[in-house]
Amino acid sequence: MPSTKDQLTKYEKIEAFVKGFKLSTLTYKRVMTLLNSEMKSGLTKQTNHVADIKMFPTFVRSLPDGTEKGEFLALDLGGTNFRVLLVKLHGSDVEIESKTYLIPQRIMLGTGKQLFDHIADCIGKFVKDHNIQGQKLPLGFTFSFPCKQEDLAAARLSKWTKGFRCEGVVGENICHLLHEALKRRTNCDVEIIAVVNDAVGTLMSAAHSDRNCEIGLILGTGCNACYMEDLDNVGLWEAADDDHPQQVIINTEWGAFGDNGCLDFIRTEYDRELDTYSINPGKQIMEKMISGMYMGEIVRLVLERLTMEGLLLHGADRECLLFERGKFYTKYVSEIESDHDEFFANTKQVLEELGIENFTTEDCKIVKYVCTLVSARAAFLAAAGLATLINKIGRKEMTIAVDGSLYRFHPRFHNLMCLKIQELIRPGQKFKLALSHDGSGKGAALVAAVAMRLRNIKGLKDVEVAA
Ligand code: GLC
Repeated sequence: MPSTKDQLTKYEKIEAFVKGFKLSTLTYKRVMTLLNSEMKSGLTKQTNHVADIKMFPTFVRSLPDGTEKGEFLALDLGGTNFRVLLVKLHGSDVEIESKTYLIPQRIMLGTGKQLFDHIADCIGKFVKDHNIQGQKLPLGFTFSFPCKQEDLAAARLSKWTKGFRCEGVVGENICHLLHEALKRRTNCDVEIIAVVNDAVGTLMSAAHSDRNCEIGLILGTGCNACYMEDLDNVGLWEAADDDHPQQVIINTEWGAFGDNGCLDFIRTEYDRELDTYSINPGKQIMEKMISGMYMGEIVRLVLERLTMEGLLLHGADRECLLFERGKFYTKYVSEIESDHDEFFANTKQVLEELGIENFTTEDCKIVKYVCTLVSARAAFLAAAGLATLINKIGRKEMTIAVDGSLYRFHPRFHNLMCLKIQELIRPGQKFKLALSHDGSGKGAALVAAVAMRLRNIKGLKDVEVAA
């Protein structure tokens, strides 16, 4: 506690600059009501075209049953890296070999042709290095952007999110673009069996061993969730009746929640500033309050403000990295919050990396405090989103598969989310948050494997009918 009157007013002043991050349970409940109604309008045919949350049906209708077998190529595109994987499924056993390739920023902001050529070059190298050139491998493609799916292996990009803005891809079938690039740049032969979102891959990967899995959540560069929905509730579902289960995974794309202004009542001045300087102003409002691509920058904006107000880091030179956009990484938030004693070893190291000298222990305390406020709001908003889905699905017990760097590396995200979800769901409902392993790799291969299993069963039935 501050001892002198001066300190008291200093802490009161700091509070005034950060109080917008402290939201009441009632406010989170209001967020849930809004989210629920926005999701409904996304699911309804007549309102989907104006809805922010698109609730894309994915054509993934069966979860794995653990008997999936075979060798698959999987691709994972969605963050700053691109991964190629060779996934060998032997029932419940999975073997993965993978290689990560960097996507330079000039390609993320270049043309679609450059992007897909780059991807094709990486696949070409991988296939050569693994000596699998001659084989026509089935491929599952994790493409973690909003897509209108026309079939399991046909998906049109609806808009770019996160750090991408490649020209000439919105509205195009990305499988077609990949095929064309592979033809242009390599002589590898693949059959694209499925395109999936990372949230869907995460759900599939966890469902492989946990039958209770109903929801997939990504807390990484971006934030998104998917869940299993009854076809009766999916106004957009138009495919003919068949003998698949009467359900489909919905990719909510809830990162866009708030794009119509409905979350303005909880946004702070820092959220607005971050949005103004982003590559997609006005878009992905909920994602910008939660995910790893933005959290560090929100913290930086608060620290910058407190410093300018003379409440923090008196020794900071105006030329240091604290005053440069994008230089306070989200991993710093996790590192700082991992300090558990008065030595603040991680916090000091971060401040030094930012080029700040002469900071005090009190500075460290305030920096850590700001991190905890920003990350707790993110965790609570994600929890409000999950609680909305849990209440909507209404099952007594369910597992939520989670993946993403923010969830993996932040020391308190899991616990904070569990506490808040418990507060927001109906009494008597039980849930478990389970880390899903390699959803983007294994998950895409599993979607492809399930599709091939079902295709084989159908093939057999057709043969029986013919005979
Ligand atoms: C963004 C993308 C979404 C993806 C999420 C997590 O929100 O739009 O498709 O699932 O990031 O990577």
